[in-house]
Amino acid sequence: MDEIIKVRTGIPGFDSVLAGGLSQGKTISLSGPPGSGKTTFGMQFLYSGAKDFDEPGIFVTLSQSPVELKNDCRSLGWDIQKLIDAGLMLIIDARPFKRKEGFIALDESFYQGEPLPFMHLTQLILSSIKKIGAKRVVLDSLTVLTMQYVNNFYIRQGLQGLVYALEDQHCMSVLISEVDSYEKSPIEWYVLSGVILLSHIRKEYSMERTIQVLKMRGLKHSEQIFPIKLNEMGIQIMYPKMMS
Ligand SMILES: Nc1ncnc2c1ncn2[C@@H]1O[C@H](COP(=O)(O)OP(=O)(O)OP(=O)(O)O)[C@@H](O)[C@H]1O
Ligand SMILES: [Mg+2]
Repeated sequence: MDEIIKVRTGIPGFDSVLAGGLSQGKTISLSGPPGSGKTTFGMQFLYSGAKDFDEPGIFVTLSQSPVELKNDCRSLGWDIQKLIDAGLMLIIDARPFKRKEGFIALDESFYQGEPLPFMHLTQLILSSIKKIGAKRVVLDSLTVLTMQYVNNFYIRQGLQGLVYALEDQHCMSVLISEVDSYEKSPIEWYVLSGVILLSHIRKEYSMERTIQVLKMRGLKHSEQIFPIKLNEMGIQIMYPKMMS
């Protein structure tokens, strides 16, 4: 049996929840409702990877613009442009809609009907990985890609192809998905090797943010739900909370 090599997430306190970190070469889902910290987690994972572990990373955006992402990261003290200039990071802009010279334009290069979106994007990600020798990949979000399909089989087929391609490159990949509740598990929760769930729950007149590992194949992990803080320092895990 091959030894599991651990990839540190860069989220303070979270690697111990995962008994040392994520498994190298795997693709996992990072899921949660709006504003739960998905993009922040993804950026923190890449920023820390590039800065602390010398692992180049790729952020594939299907939602926010690269400019907006860089500005949001600046509010957290992370200079993404500096990493891009140093060849340690790439942002791939794969949004289906873009502002182009004063008007809004449909980007039809990826989105020409089933099952092309996954194939096109996979090829683009592969060439970008090779360009900077990426070890980490974040896709934000998979939901934008999957919502174009009417047939779940094609989602599963396309997603499986993307996962095999990422695994062949030995990348640790985080695919973000938009999920409101446990009630209906999205396809990616079955296909991918791990699921991390971010949530915010009402606590009196405030909200409490939490993180939880729902699934991590082949890895012993904590089953607790941990309170987290999301502030100008990014995401941090608070004290372990004992669930009764
Ligand atoms: N610099 C900051 N200081 C404090 N809190 C911040 C800062 N930046 C972001 N936040 C908090 O993080 C939230 C957004 O986090 P993020 O964009 O990672 O969520 P998300 O799950 O990706 O949301 P969406 O589903 O809309 O994409 C904000 O609503 C805010 O509460
Ligand atoms: Mg987001």
